[in-house]
Amino acid sequence: AEDGYDLWLRYMRADAATSARIAAHGQVIAAPGDSATMQAARNELLRGITGLTGATPTLSNIVAPGALWLATPRTAPALPLKLEGLGQEGYAIRSIRVEGKPVTLIAAQGEMGLLHGAFHWLRLAQSGAALDAMDIRSAPRIGLRLLNHWDNLDGTVERGYSGSSIWDWWRLPDWKGPRYADYARANASIGINGTVLNNVNAKSDSLTAPYIAKAAALADVFRPYGIKVYLSVKWTAPMELDGLKTADPLDPTVAAWWKAKADEIYKAIPDFGGFLVKANSEGQPGPQDYKRTHADGANMLAAAMKPHGGIVMWRAFVYAHDNPDDRAKQAYADFKPLDGQFADNVIVQVKNGAIDFQPREPFHPLFGAMSRTPLMMEFQITKEYLGQSTHLTYLGPLFEETLKSDTFAKGKGSTVAKVIDGSLDGHRLTGIAGVANIGTDRDWSGSIFNQADWYAFGRMAWNPDLTADAVAREWTALTFTPDKAVVEPVVAMMMGSREAAVDYMTPLGLAHVMDTGHHYGPGPWVSELARPEWNPVYYHKADATGIGFDRTKSGSNAIAQYAPPLAKRFADPRTTPERDLLWFHHLPWGYRLASGETLWDGMVHRYDRGVAYVAGMRATWEGLRPMVDGERFAQTQTFLAIQQREAQWWRDASIAYFQSIARRPLPAGAASPP
Ligand code: GCU
Repeated sequence: AEDGYDLWLRYMRADAATSARIAAHGQVIAAPGDSATMQAARNELLRGITGLTGATPTLSNIVAPGALWLATPRTAPALPLKLEGLGQEGYAIRSIRVEGKPVTLIAAQGEMGLLHGAFHWLRLAQSGAALDAMDIRSAPRIGLRLLNHWDNLDGTVERGYSGSSIWDWWRLPDWKGPRYADYARANASIGINGTVLNNVNAKSDSLTAPYIAKAAALADVFRPYGIKVYLSVKWTAPMELDGLKTADPLDPTVAAWWKAKADEIYKAIPDFGGFLVKANSEGQPGPQDYKRTHADGANMLAAAMKPHGGIVMWRAFVYAHDNPDDRAKQAYADFKPLDGQFADNVIVQVKNGAIDFQPREPFHPLFGAMSRTPLMMEFQITKEYLGQSTHLTYLGPLFEETLKSDTFAKGKGSTVAKVIDGSLDGHRLTGIAGVANIGTDRDWSGSIFNQADWYAFGRMAWNPDLTADAVAREWTALTFTPDKAVVEPVVAMMMGSREAAVDYMTPLGLAHVMDTGHHYGPGPWVSELARPEWNPVYYHKADATGIGFDRTKSGSNAIAQYAPPLAKRFADPRTTPERDLLWFHHLPWGYRLASGETLWDGMVHRYDRGVAYVAGMRATWEGLRPMVDGERFAQTQTFLAIQQREAQWWRDASIAYFQSIARRPLPAGAASPP
């Protein structure tokens, strides 16, 4: 449909050549097996091939010429390819001959692998790729690939910009609308295998019997697609729900309560994934309230989960005390000393950066600093700080930049990706989470282009080495058309869009200058809030002498949280990457950038460049009018106009404010304010 509901699974009629190719390789589907997962795989192939070719393939238990053959060692003992190393979710796809006839074999150890393989084949079919001579092996590099819904039980979504929660709590568990299965299909198609249903700012109610039954109903819908359900829990639930006197993790009554709760949940949801916990952060209660550590808390919950095979994801986004010195240092200060103390079914979930999902942050210093603890990545797909639903700011480059960052923990090449895929330190429990941008909007994500962020998250969670560019190409081909005349300009727009937002919001390493609370639009002048680190002025520290946050020895010394080679690099503005300059340094307005221009002039040029980029995207999009359907064209056209207006607002407001402090003229060539 043209309203975006079908996401990247549109299966629109392909051109004649593509359609013929798909028919030649997919006119027969041989996929024996009655399980719900096999049915899901068959149904998806039927739906996809029928949509793309206009002809319905036949189902058969016999491998006919031109068949797509889905097989496991159970259904076909003598498979002509090796499945070692693919695990339960991986698959191989190969063009073979059976009794002289061409067949496409999708093979896996288990049926979940076949479902993923079917989606891969459909992705290739839909993007017009060649379907003969196939030889593909694919398995996920990261074990837990999860969405985190910040959905409240009252139907609102914290930091949600695409309508209400898709969980219809009032009518669950009985009514399970079609949207749930479509959600599962979309996630399975990109390899996501788990979902945390409720907000990390959790309410105890989520652990009551009625809500467990509702979660169980969702788990039933998701199960065939390999998607497990998890819950966020509130630390004081035993007190709130059952009147316990304490939530001290070392109190046996507390441990017993959680054990009984875990048993109750697993009775309803035998494959329940586990708990996600935000503790001692932003007002949430936690073990520190009882003078216990995060490890004490996590391990107590982990013991309750352990007999059932469940896990605990314990967040390192701790933001609790006053941070007159430097808020960026707190997570490391709290967690680094606990390295090695967590139970083996605990994984610590760390945001990509040390502050909070800014348009750009250097990678979080905990990555590479806790070799004896599995760490999982937390990205934010919903764009709290990147223009929310209307700005086109493709997050692929942000994900890629973070995953490729070198921690130097074990010498050069110790990338963040290797930390979280477990290869650097030999961890078996591995994970990555994305805060979902999904809501009840017809297009799920608030805009067509925001769908790309969900897509990119899933694809890069499966394979953290994928480039943002490659993923954008896939997504564009699936979402619009494989026609290069569309793919090339759209991908070009997307690829520079996040950097443009950095330019018009937070150039040169600035951060957290958004207006308070909603985090939408500029507010670098805000200074009157109760706690110092709530105020943007705390982050940019602009004064008559210069601008930026000194995190070197002469300042907060946060750079010491990085491995020595990096700490050394960040100690000197000359060796600090310019994109992070003001994150690490307070520099004079007249400081010379690599280009030779002053810091002030360079800032102004970047604001201008960001606005100009958005104007460029608008022009590109106008040129695509004949090639994009009306509804999706119009939405993007309007949103780009909003983005241009607001980029200009960011630019004008930021320059006016900083100029009042820097007292310098605009450089020659700067756009003049309206
Ligand atoms: C940010 C966000 C909050 C959220 C918090 C978290 O601070 O603004 O809404 O609760 O992150 O990640 O816990």
